[in-house]
Amino acid sequence: MDIEAQKRAAGEAALEFIEDHAVVGVGTGSTVKYFIDALARIKQRIDGAVSSSERSSALLRQHGIQVLDLNAVDPFAVYVDGADECDGRRNLIKGGGGALTREKIIAAVAKKFVCIVDTRKCVDVLGKFPLPVEVVPMARSYVARAIQKRGGQPVWRQGFTTDNGNWILDVHGLAITDPARLEAEWNQITGVVTVGLFAQRPADVVLVGDGRRY
Ligand code: 5RP
Repeated sequence: MDIEAQKRAAGEAALEFIEDHAVVGVGTGSTVKYFIDALARIKQRIDGAVSSSERSSALLRQHGIQVLDLNAVDPFAVYVDGADECDGRRNLIKGGGGALTREKIIAAVAKKFVCIVDTRKCVDVLGKFPLPVEVVPMARSYVARAIQKRGGQPVWRQGFTTDNGNWILDVHGLAITDPARLEAEWNQITGVVTVGLFAQRPADVVLVGDGRRY
């Protein structure tokens, strides 16, 4: 099965988690795009969506799905999003598309986090994909030095600004054997907005494009 077919299959499989009259959390990326297409087919059954990026909000609106303010909704049932890497314990690296902060907020509010990936994303140890870290712009060099001291090789994602007006460092050279600890420690570096590790709040279920789920 080619990768696009896997992304579509994973995106469509996530529909089974959507209940009638639900507010649906929607992530960002090329796999989520297939989920949004599928969601559009059942849009009359849902009450709307909360979205992790301006890009996804635009797609949802194009499909006639109402985008709601997260502050105006109660904790909702399901959040569907992709990932850049996923280990066997459903810990994730996210942020390849730069939406990690809003993604982490929506994941925190959702009762269930359904992650949709193709087989390339499944790994034993996180870190081959460079770990995105969102930083306040004036803290970029300070945070980069702090990360270097901790063994990472940060690369500034030049020319990219997040929806929150911040910048991203992509950190190479990691083998993340204790993701929850690294997430907690790096979150403490002054100037870091969000570390793109989802280990303290991992996915609840991972749907892989080849039909596996765990
Ligand atoms: C965006 C993300 C995406 O979920 C991640 O980059 C996966 O994207 P894709 O489905 O296009 O491979 O974290 O910030």
